[in-house]
Amino acid sequence: MQFWKLSTKVLATLLAVVSVQASGPSDGDAIADPNSAVVKLTSDNFASFLEENPLVLTEFFAPWCGYCKMLGPEYSKAADILKDSPHNDKIKLAQIDCTEEEALCMEHEIKGYPSLKVIRDGNNKNAEDYQGPREAQGIADYMIKQSLPAVQLPTSLEEFETLIKEQTQPFIISIGDEINEIFDKVAGQKRKDYSFYKLGKDLTKQVGKLFPSIDLKKAGYLVVHPNQLADAIKLDSDKSIDVDKLLEFINVETVPYFGDIDRNTYMKYMTSPLPIAYYFYKTPEQKEAISKDLIKLGKKYRGKLNIAGLDANLYGRHAETVNMDPEILPFFSIHHINDNKKYGINQTEYPEGPSAEVIEKFVDDYFNDKLKPIIKSEPLPTEEEIKSQQVTKLVAHNYNEILNDSSKDIFVKYYAPWCGHCKKLAPTWEELAEIYNDSNVVIADVDHTNNDVDVPYEIQGYPTLLLFPANGEVDEKTGIRKPIVFEGQRELGSFVDFIKDKGSLKVDGVVLQKRLQEEKEKKEVKEETEEKEETEEKEEVADHDEL
Ligand SMILES: *[C@@H]1O[C@H](CO)[C@@H](O)[C@H](O)[C@H]1NC(C)=O
Ligand SMILES: *[C@@H]1O[C@H](CO)[C@@H](O)[C@H](O)[C@H]1NC(C)=O
Ligand SMILES: *[C@@H]1O[C@H](CO)[C@@H](O)[C@H](O)[C@H]1NC(C)=O
Repeated sequence: MQFWKLSTKVLATLLAVVSVQASGPSDGDAIADPNSAVVKLTSDNFASFLEENPLVLTEFFAPWCGYCKMLGPEYSKAADILKDSPHNDKIKLAQIDCTEEEALCMEHEIKGYPSLKVIRDGNNKNAEDYQGPREAQGIADYMIKQSLPAVQLPTSLEEFETLIKEQTQPFIISIGDEINEIFDKVAGQKRKDYSFYKLGKDLTKQVGKLFPSIDLKKAGYLVVHPNQLADAIKLDSDKSIDVDKLLEFINVETVPYFGDIDRNTYMKYMTSPLPIAYYFYKTPEQKEAISKDLIKLGKKYRGKLNIAGLDANLYGRHAETVNMDPEILPFFSIHHINDNKKYGINQTEYPEGPSAEVIEKFVDDYFNDKLKPIIKSEPLPTEEEIKSQQVTKLVAHNYNEILNDSSKDIFVKYYAPWCGHCKKLAPTWEELAEIYNDSNVVIADVDHTNNDVDVPYEIQGYPTLLLFPANGEVDEKTGIRKPIVFEGQRELGSFVDFIKDKGSLKVDGVVLQKRLQEEKEKKEVKEETEEKEETEEKEEVADHDEL
């Protein structure tokens, strides 16, 4: 996916927040509730059960595994949801305890727990990996979709109404065109995520009262959010609509005007190219109070901005990612993922949360380029700190200015305070800075978690070591020289070689190191002599004292 790369960093932070929550105290028993509809399979009944049931989701698990414990209660609930649904006969959920059924699990090449496989018609050679959500309703929905053809063709209005009533996710309808390969292809690709319905010409005429806002005379596609039929969105079909266009329409329009980000929905937001506006709230009442207005705003900015709610009780940590204070709620902020810029409504001015009017004005201002991003930065180092520290400390407020000095080779360590490898490297980095003291090579570092700085390179881990060579070519997007990545052994000698080899100034650190060593030795000799003289003096004093 094209936008994927741009948002990986954001995705990583949100994912971290989401999974911290997921491994929280809600852990249950990995073994399904014996009173639930989950079937326990052993080597004795495995083959026969699969033969008797056309569609089975199998969970291979171990009772001690953390993720299995999280899944257990949801799995039981999902089985019960399905049991009470019209799909009762067609779909079964089963569990295989790999600590008891080693041979069976080996035969299925189970490499991690839990492993979930969808098996059709007893054909376990063609088992497919389950790729759906891990909570009850999501599991049930996923399996129901698996049980249906990718595109469903209801034959009566009643049947259609019954089908769409069940929906808990947005769904897609093709109207007025029975033969439509584009729709079939898209449905095939996206069947895991959405239900697809095709309405022929006759049925299309009858559904008019369900979709009062839509002109149904022309063939086209509808995206409908569950229980929001009156707000269905239409894309007219014409020659220009190909698979990609239809997919894009679906990707944009299935995002709710104002929906919550949680474990099930965050992927949708993260893979969207649009900026995200967050409404962080503490209580359901706060969200409810503003919901209508934010839905309206979401409609106004459809296709330009996704607006989402975040429950701060669960995902409060994500507030830091957007440079907001998690303690002052509710708050509203916008994250422009493409350039990682963050904008927020001043929390000091609205300690009780901003009103709908304030939010709307803020969003308008954002699109009129009237807002300044919130730049996170540590304070500038003081004169004393600059004098006493060997390594040049970069913060967001001095970063551009220091990196802008293109007469110097600048070697920067991007680190995170929590990173063990960074801590290990710190003394070597100090030594390196000492060697290049007073030369045209700057040895610098920046705490990348506490300073919003542009880097013309995608940082994927810490520490990342980048050399900005003097007079180097400037990256257009950031205005910063393009760096050279250090990828060798993180040792003093390798750094010195790298600077000489890759730096534009070809400064020879070995020479500098030698000079430094000589100076140190000279100093030591001098100090030793002084020390000796001092002790001798002291001894004399002591002599006197004894008298
Ligand atoms: C937020 O508002 C307060 C009070 O009006 C003001 O002192 C502060 O500078 C503002 N913060 C920002 C980042 O503009
Ligand atoms: C960088 O230097 C150029 C000229 O040398 C100057 O025009 C520009 O404003 C400087 N940028 C920063 C961020 O200091
Ligand atoms: C670094 O160089 C400056 C200027 O020559 C000198 O005053 C200072 O003592 C040096 N620092 C160290 C730690 O050697």
